[in-house]
Amino acid sequence: MLHRALATTDHPRGWRDYVVPQCWDAFTPENHAVWDLLFARQVELLGSRVVTPFLDGIDLLRLSHPGVPDLDELNAILEPRTGWRTVAVTGLVPDDIFFAMLGERVFPVGNFIRAREQLDYLEEPDCFHDLFGHIPMLADDDFAKMVEHVGRLGGAAIAAGHGELVARIYWHSVEFGLAREGGELKILGAGLASSFGEAHFSLESDAVERLPFSVPRAVRTAYRNDVFQPLYLVSDSVESTVEEILGTRADDLLAIE
Ligand SMILES: [Fe+2]
Repeated sequence: MLHRALATTDHPRGWRDYVVPQCWDAFTPENHAVWDLLFARQVELLGSRVVTPFLDGIDLLRLSHPGVPDLDELNAILEPRTGWRTVAVTGLVPDDIFFAMLGERVFPVGNFIRAREQLDYLEEPDCFHDLFGHIPMLADDDFAKMVEHVGRLGGAAIAAGHGELVARIYWHSVEFGLAREGGELKILGAGLASSFGEAHFSLESDAVERLPFSVPRAVRTAYRNDVFQPLYLVSDSVESTVEEILGTRADDLLAIE
């Protein structure tokens, strides 16, 4: 989610108005087969190139179970663990709604999956991106706390007219961040973990810049959502970024120039 420029916030609805039934029974055998294909090739592609809490989350949440996950079954494991739960939505939600959801430990998941003919091209995030990319890290206590905090910061920043500042923090950590772990460069962000093309590119390409993550640098660094990233921010460790973001207040962001 949050794969596009800031949308208008001029709407009278609350986040619950965007929630729809997942209608798991409506997924076809072909839909489930596409999930299985995406899951198998992405797990093989990632190997150990992704941070350990992500791999732990895949196991804890039993995401290797065949077929598109049933959100009720997933929530029955996730919610007792970290207080996060998933809800189904029909597509991208406005940023203020998205941040409001995160602030209440609710993660929106598209109620659709890409077609086999579009395995590597997505106009907007589908349930494979949302579930495979994002949910494993939400089974990690500290990261789960951090994403909730990002949601609350986002709400405050939007209210102050600067939602883009928190969108950039989210982008450069939760969505497209890299992180060091045991001296190795690893994938942290969901947009990379769930991408067949950009996962290796982000780690191995000589054509991109990689700079150390910090909140001020993230806030100052605009991003593109329509191409592979030309710049990745690299956390010294998942823990250090969690700590830095959790220690950030909305007033701190507005003071960054
Ligand atoms: Fe995402």
